[in-house]
Amino acid sequence: MHGNTRGADLTRLAQVKNHPDVVEFLSKADEYLGTLGYTEHGARHASLVAHIAHNILERLGYGSDTAELAAVAGYLHDVGNFLGREAHAQSAAIICYHVLRDLGFGPAEYAVIMGAIGNHDEQLGNALDPVSAALILADKSDVHRSRVRDPRTTAEDIHDRVNYAAERSFLNVDGAQHRMTLELTIDTTISGVMEYFEIFLSRMIMCRRAADFLGCTFQMEINRVKIF
Ligand SMILES: [Fe+2]
Ligand SMILES: [Fe+2]
Repeated sequence: MHGNTRGADLTRLAQVKNHPDVVEFLSKADEYLGTLGYTEHGARHASLVAHIAHNILERLGYGSDTAELAAVAGYLHDVGNFLGREAHAQSAAIICYHVLRDLGFGPAEYAVIMGAIGNHDEQLGNALDPVSAALILADKSDVHRSRVRDPRTTAEDIHDRVNYAAERSFLNVDGAQHRMTLELTIDTTISGVMEYFEIFLSRMIMCRRAADFLGCTFQMEINRVKIF
């Protein structure tokens, strides 16, 4: 899902990205998770999730204003991680409140963004509206080799191994057919398909529910083979 995002829609996303608090929070969050041995959760992940969330809603015919709220929620969703991994979704939602007010978002907008951010994690979250559903799908689609900080860790860390094995991860949204397909290309000499499900099954269930919320079926293809 690349190259089809209309730049003009995303002025507010650019303002959010450049807000000094967001820059600092995101950098601290990524640094903290790096210390704990987690995969990349910085500007790369934030930007990608922002654009995927935006495109999901655009492809499904939601207006550009709603799609932009999803983009903003996508960029901000993981900034709470430096306050602790546990409940990072809720802490992110709360610390973004003043940023969104600073940038002129109204209550009906920041409530939607905060609700989506607070509900993106599979442990505690649920899709509650189109923006939160799009954020869940976008976040869980980002499984990729480039998120692994040090390939030497893949032998002992299953998250690093599965991410490192993922050469391509693409959420294909077919608006006409009301169907979303997560297309993965995995190097099975690095990690088998079972390992993917061992760590991501709860995320895939969350994706299916989020797609259902958007009136779509959710499918998955690994190495061009339909899994479900
Ligand atoms: Fe998260
Ligand atoms: Fe995330």
